[in-house]
Amino acid sequence: MWDDLSGQYATSRARKIADLFDDTARGAEFAISADELFFDYSKTNIDRATRDSLIALAHKQNIAERRDQMFAGEKINTTEGRAVLHTALRNLDGGAVHVDGADVMPGVLDVLDKMSDFADAVRSGRFAGAGGKITDVVNIGIGGSDLGPAMAVLALAPYADGPKCHFISNVDGADLADTLAPLDPKTTLVLVASKTFTTLETMMNAQSALDWMAKEVADPAAQFAAISTAMKETADFGIPAERVFGFEDWVGGRYSMWGPIGLSIMLAVGPENFRDFLRGGQAMDRHFCTADLSQNMPVMLALVGIWHHQVCGYGTRAVLPYEQRLLRLPAYLQQLEMESNGKSVSAKGEELDQPVGPIVWGEPGTNGQHAFYQLIHQGKQVVPCEFMVGAEGHEAELAHHHRALLANCLAQSEALMLGRDLDRARIMMAEKGLTGAELEANAMQRVFSGNRPSTTLIYKKLTPFVLGQIIALYEHRVFVEGTILGINPYDQWGVELGKELAQKLAPAVEEGGDTTDLHAATARLVEVAKSMRGDG
Ligand code: F6P
Repeated sequence: MWDDLSGQYATSRARKIADLFDDTARGAEFAISADELFFDYSKTNIDRATRDSLIALAHKQNIAERRDQMFAGEKINTTEGRAVLHTALRNLDGGAVHVDGADVMPGVLDVLDKMSDFADAVRSGRFAGAGGKITDVVNIGIGGSDLGPAMAVLALAPYADGPKCHFISNVDGADLADTLAPLDPKTTLVLVASKTFTTLETMMNAQSALDWMAKEVADPAAQFAAISTAMKETADFGIPAERVFGFEDWVGGRYSMWGPIGLSIMLAVGPENFRDFLRGGQAMDRHFCTADLSQNMPVMLALVGIWHHQVCGYGTRAVLPYEQRLLRLPAYLQQLEMESNGKSVSAKGEELDQPVGPIVWGEPGTNGQHAFYQLIHQGKQVVPCEFMVGAEGHEAELAHHHRALLANCLAQSEALMLGRDLDRARIMMAEKGLTGAELEANAMQRVFSGNRPSTTLIYKKLTPFVLGQIIALYEHRVFVEGTILGINPYDQWGVELGKELAQKLAPAVEEGGDTTDLHAATARLVEVAKSMRGDG
């Protein structure tokens, strides 16, 4: 099957994507609608035969069966022996979901109600804090306990009518210092978000924030809440159970923003908007579970990704939201996609013989256009681009800005596809009055090979519902890609070794710390750093 796809790539390389549009049905046929999203993959070099082969591959890997196993609470995270049920967190009006024979939905809905009550109390001023009103919320967490909420709070800024949310993640004290500097401890609520409640960065930041709070507030822990699966650890930290929002180990960190980890989002935009976000995710779940594979948005987004990375060999993909408020989406997707699928062995522990997760990167347009698009258009490597854009923005009085944004987005995908050939470039240079060698040299600079693939996701407006759909779309894409490749997207053993070594190194970087047990390469750098700070 892979050989068949490779063969199709070999023959399709010479073909122009633009020529595929000689078939006037292509635009409609290589696109999928799902609720408020429209996904267009017509500007890829995938034709009907290739699509059929990709779908056959998905069938061969039992995508539908494995999807159903995931939704049914089977322990598909085999390396950790866990179910994968972030979908239960947005199963607002769905049926029972069982793990080990017990329905998890009553617990999920109870926690959602508890979050809503707390959010209402904070937003209304009933939960007042030492200053009489909470004006600011600081979420302390990292990875999945930071990136999703930080991304979503910014994305949903037009809906934010609650306290202002801030995010501290890095163990670098600069993050804590800069974030807390403008805040008043008396009017600040701190959320310590950590699935394990043992993550070094988060626990160090939480302790320093508690110390900061204690300088001005008599009972600092009273202005702390915790979000975790580790109840004993949250109690040990001094946060009473009524302000601990729990979840279960069947929610992976990078899939957790739909539950208590999303409390900062709820505090910012209110419980009803948060529920709309969940509804968007749930709508995508329904689509994913019911649409035929060829009309299934997450499946086709994944198959386009498989085609580009595993078959065509393009090493990276760029996610390019033409939506300034999705500034943090690329970082969020980096964790979602690369922590999930950036692996070299199968779920069974066998070495994989093909490339696995691609590098994901990006930046909102139009900013990226004035930074790295040069390489995307004229660099030697092909970077498949995933554009996304709203039909309209939230700023009615600035609608002309949004039209410029939309035009830029659509222009880029067209430019990537069509390019500009040498003859056209020569004509341009001749029109500028150039001749001979000067014309030739200048014309060459203006050639765009074109034939560079992209997809475009369009939605009416970035509402909570639409954001929910987009995030669930990408989550399921990760599932489909990982399943096709035979890997377990839900563990992350690759982050462990560095953590272990950092613990081992911690005493050595202290003043007078012994470096003799360190590898010579590291010991040398520790000595250099110590000498720079005057300890050496
Ligand atoms: O970096 C590894 C990781 O375990 C991520 O998967 C996770 O999102 C992050 O650390 C934070 O973990 P926790 O929520 O347990 O603090």
